[in-house]
Amino acid sequence: MSETLANLSSESRQFPPPEALAAAANVKAEAYEEAAADRLAFWARQAERLTWSKSWDQVLDWSNPPFAKWFVGGELNVAYNCVDRHVEAGHGDKVAIHWEGEPGDTRTITYAELLKLVSQAANTLTDLGVGAGDRVAIYLPMIPEAAVAMLACARVGATHSVVFGGFSVSALSTRIQDADAKLVITADGGYRRGKPSALKPTVDEAVAQCPSIENVLVVRRTGQDVAWTDKDKWWHETVEQASPEHKAQPFDAEHPLFILYTSGTTGKPKGILHTTGGYLTQVSYTHNAVFDLKPETDVYWCTADIGWVTGHSYIVYGPLSNGATQVMYEGTPDTPGRDRFWQIVDKYKVSILYTAPTLIRTMMKWGDDIPAGYDLSSLRVLGSVGEPINPEAWMWYRENIGRNRTPIVDTWWQTETGGVMISPLPGVTATKPGSAMTALPGITADVVDDQAQSVPNGGGGFLVLRDPWPSMLRTIWGDDKRFIDTYWSRFGAGAGTGDEWIYFAGDGAKKDEDGALWLLGRVDDVMLVSGHNISTTEVESALVSHPSVAESAVVGATDPTTGQAIVAFVIPRGNVDTEGDAGEQLNVELRNHVAKTLGPIAKPRQIMLVPELPKTRSGKIMRRLLKDVAENRSLGDVTTLQDSAVMDLISKGMNTGK
Ligand code: WT7
Repeated sequence: MSETLANLSSESRQFPPPEALAAAANVKAEAYEEAAADRLAFWARQAERLTWSKSWDQVLDWSNPPFAKWFVGGELNVAYNCVDRHVEAGHGDKVAIHWEGEPGDTRTITYAELLKLVSQAANTLTDLGVGAGDRVAIYLPMIPEAAVAMLACARVGATHSVVFGGFSVSALSTRIQDADAKLVITADGGYRRGKPSALKPTVDEAVAQCPSIENVLVVRRTGQDVAWTDKDKWWHETVEQASPEHKAQPFDAEHPLFILYTSGTTGKPKGILHTTGGYLTQVSYTHNAVFDLKPETDVYWCTADIGWVTGHSYIVYGPLSNGATQVMYEGTPDTPGRDRFWQIVDKYKVSILYTAPTLIRTMMKWGDDIPAGYDLSSLRVLGSVGEPINPEAWMWYRENIGRNRTPIVDTWWQTETGGVMISPLPGVTATKPGSAMTALPGITADVVDDQAQSVPNGGGGFLVLRDPWPSMLRTIWGDDKRFIDTYWSRFGAGAGTGDEWIYFAGDGAKKDEDGALWLLGRVDDVMLVSGHNISTTEVESALVSHPSVAESAVVGATDPTTGQAIVAFVIPRGNVDTEGDAGEQLNVELRNHVAKTLGPIAKPRQIMLVPELPKTRSGKIMRRLLKDVAENRSLGDVTTLQDSAVMDLISKGMNTGK
């Protein structure tokens, strides 16, 4: 982006919080002023939510930026805070996890049972020679053992590196090697789309390339045949036989809790390092504030996989530190039918649902009648995370799932930020469909131009974070230089802007006339059309606002006259006729619709109607690939695509000019 981002769309709909929810909300409007008056005192108060073995001497040490230390000198045990203390407080019989397997098998795990499992697993880790400072790779399906394994690592001070169960041998082995892990915790397999899907063969191949691995701990989930090596130990023959007594030792507030790899657009994956006290403080606070969690009565469900940061912060550490009762689901949303999510909400009376825009748009495509068949009256707060949520998808979520009653919290954050940074508060904020609204109390977010100058309301530019926050990444594992280059050099000290260190998030954003924040997608995706910077998100949202469109992806393709031209890939809603002339007509109508909504500058040069879009395993649209298609280049590596057949279809459509 050379200039500021154009601010094309506007939104006038606004939804104040329901009165009863506002009156009883955990966090009220005063929190913003309290945090602004003394940010560090505010975070110190939030840290008191946790049980510390030793209190801190200093809230924040920022004497060596951008390397932050939070709660300096403090000591605590994360697993104790997530499990033991709830049992000690008399909540041992409270359900921690209602687990639902994909084939329909279930497990109910109370806090007392969780304590037993985590203690047994911690004893097993010790028996296997894993202790404080060691790294453990976790490669598991969405089964309770995934949470148990993470907590057991935290309990003994081992740093876990969870690798998403859908990743390949090379993804797993490079992550094991980069972290120099000693142990892998895996399973024979898990259930996906109605079938057992093996994990162990991938681990066997990866471990063969990873001499650092001494042992492999294997959970039996599917019962499928597995090859066996002398490094392998069954979970049920070790953990389940181990002593249930384990005393958690406190660790320093800056002890490394976990590494989680994120793949950037270029280069090898970055091992994002999170530590103990600040991380747990922020995920605990935000989980309580953003979802208005009432641990006594709420049933919370986050549909993410444990392999992503959302699963770390808002399935494991946030909810469990708050003593929540939650649902954990193993499988896909369309197994055995497309109503599985609503069946689960109805069955467990889920009151807080946290999911992703990609899923919401998929549900839109599947049709309103599916959720309409279920009693969703238990829901009282809905959350969204992972991508900008288009205003129409937001409205669909509100009307069809929230039945026009429940607030929606659109939460912006990243693997790097550890916890939610920008979000409405459900009892405070009058929300606008598609906006993440404002930074949470204690967080300083801004939108700046090329020169790091704050843009006025109505302007667009780069999203930045101005002050350090407790759950910020501490570095990239083993690569401090890359940490500085990636996040702190664009606008940081030394970049010509004085002493201030500014975190560059890599997202485009705008401030509307009221100062509310709108996320506009990754800066790398911004299009430059006839000298105007246009966000892919705004054009996508304009397309989704047409009643015939369920989902769209927009890219800028090289164009001889305009520099870049807008090319859109559109998935029509289920009931829309796209055969022959109807398709041609819809195409023209959609191009005109965008021009009318956003202005002629944003009119797509070309629209392609497609059945699917290429997405990463975490549900993000792969715009880079679509750009290649739009420019008729070769497709390159598509191994992380959910379905590479989609790309074939899309290319064919392109070649025939459709
Ligand atoms: C990137 C971070 C945060 C956990 C899951 C993704 C995009 C995330 C939103 C949102 C607009 C969002 C950003 C961000 N993103 N949430 N509510 N609105 N964009 O974690 O894989 O580290 O991805 O996801 O582009 O930078 P991640």
